[in-house]
Amino acid sequence: MASVTSLTDLVSKQLTSALSATRPETSADPLLRRSDRADFQANGILALAKKAKANPRDLATEVVSHITTGDVIKDVEVSGPGFLNITIADRAVLENLAARYADGTGRLGVPLAENPGITVIDYAQPNVAKEMHVGHLRSAVIGDALRGMLDFTGEKTIGRHHIGDWGTQFGMLIQYLMEHPGELAPPSEVDGDQAMSNLNRIYKASRAVFDADEAFKERARKRVVALQSGDKETLELWQQFVDESKVYFNSVFDKLDMEIRDDEIVGESAYNEGMPETARLLEEMGVAERSEGALVVFFDDIRGKDDKPVPLIVQKADGGFGYAASDLTAIRNRVFDLHADTLLYVVDVRQSLHFKMVFETARRAGWLNDDVTAHHIGFGTVLGADGKPFKTREGETVRLKDLLDEAVQRAAEVVREKAKDLTEEEIQERAAQVGIGAVKYADLSTSPTRDYKFDLDQMVSLNGDTSVYLQYAYARIRSILRKAGDVRPAAHPELELHEAERALGLHLDAFGDTVFEAAAEYAPHKLTAYLYQLASLYTTFYDKCPVLKAESPEQVENRLFLCDLTARTLTKGMSLLGIRTPERL
Ligand code: ARG
Repeated sequence: MASVTSLTDLVSKQLTSALSATRPETSADPLLRRSDRADFQANGILALAKKAKANPRDLATEVVSHITTGDVIKDVEVSGPGFLNITIADRAVLENLAARYADGTGRLGVPLAENPGITVIDYAQPNVAKEMHVGHLRSAVIGDALRGMLDFTGEKTIGRHHIGDWGTQFGMLIQYLMEHPGELAPPSEVDGDQAMSNLNRIYKASRAVFDADEAFKERARKRVVALQSGDKETLELWQQFVDESKVYFNSVFDKLDMEIRDDEIVGESAYNEGMPETARLLEEMGVAERSEGALVVFFDDIRGKDDKPVPLIVQKADGGFGYAASDLTAIRNRVFDLHADTLLYVVDVRQSLHFKMVFETARRAGWLNDDVTAHHIGFGTVLGADGKPFKTREGETVRLKDLLDEAVQRAAEVVREKAKDLTEEEIQERAAQVGIGAVKYADLSTSPTRDYKFDLDQMVSLNGDTSVYLQYAYARIRSILRKAGDVRPAAHPELELHEAERALGLHLDAFGDTVFEAAAEYAPHKLTAYLYQLASLYTTFYDKCPVLKAESPEQVENRLFLCDLTARTLTKGMSLLGIRTPERL
């Protein structure tokens, strides 16, 4: 199905040619945006006037003389210091929307990117044998939303769940398991909760022995060496920990209504084999140097206390590799084997320094450059009601699972209150969609870098900028469409638009442009803001314009059509963010 050019694009093009017809020697962007005064306002003439040393109002008048009003632009006026106020013909708005509506591909007429690239997104990366916490929630939710938006633009995305599945703590765990066989039930026999409680128990027990018993400590240390040298029996036990953890991770991702592909779970350990090569390459190129036995990279602008340079440690003096080496090796894999041109890392902002050093090292090595770039999407902290990092009353980190369960429970209260005619099963199903949606939306609607307060009452509120508000808007439209019975939605471009219809229509037209912008800036909050505004504009439209009781049959069909397109746009936008829109609430 043919894709639809947005009205913004159409008008922009007309303005650009009018600008260059006016001053062929100077190029300028018309800087078009939606406006309250007219449909669009163009502010670009001010900059052009400056460059061309002309009076902006005179120049604007000249530009207007080069614009042909007609099918699309109904009217254009000079205003203020040299702005253009542009009004679109009603027919053009409706025809544009009708074309979107007719797109059978589910893309609402939004074209695919002309030159899509390959983006590897590193997100949802919990740690083996450890509980997941709110930080892992943010990475999963933001990463999944970025992926949804990028996929929609036509970008090819590859997920990488860089789970923490390697490190010295495994020596302790494996040694303990060897000495206490049978403590870890096979993954096939446990559910997520049992898996995590097994792991917790073993973690605590092995820690206690480790701290109390010098001989065990020594055996655990030797076990690390055995693990690193690939000893078969040791690796098998390590794999058991990983598999048991995956049962738990998957149960949480399930609860989060998020699909995590097993082949995209590629943890730190996957890069073990490549690490010596990474070190060798960096040393040969002179990017890394030996310092006190370790292989390190220095940076002029990264210094610690006493102004001493803080290096990135590629290889420790004892020959061991750590977090940096695995990330550097992962970059080589993602760039050279997966052919990515963009690498995204959705990781806590507190790891910024690590990524700054890793990316700079990779750039010096030539693995990253102007065409192959890496970006750390650093997210802020989830705070409790007291404005401090979220903790339980006992001062422990809040378990992600408990948090999600509580959100679903609160949502169940809201759903039960609203819909009296639902069965208990239906309530539970909706509650999951509302509760998880609420958690995701609250996370996505603030810019990733900012901290936010985890406030369930606010998150499941029916009023304000929440997913529940959007889900209700959607469900209300679906109910109107059901009530319409045999009357089908249909566009009638010959009709005159009410002001509230125009505002809604122009906003609907901007969906594709918004997703592209939000995807390019890695800013899911731009899409949530768009959707919130869409629901608000719809509410105004619904208040001002009777739908089923409109004055003529054409008017009824046309308004049903606006309703339906709004519903489709809402559900599409929400789905890109990983949020469901139930048919009834
Ligand atoms: N597992 C790490 C953590 O829980 C996050 C991993 C981030 N990804 C990466 N490539 N370093 O903090």
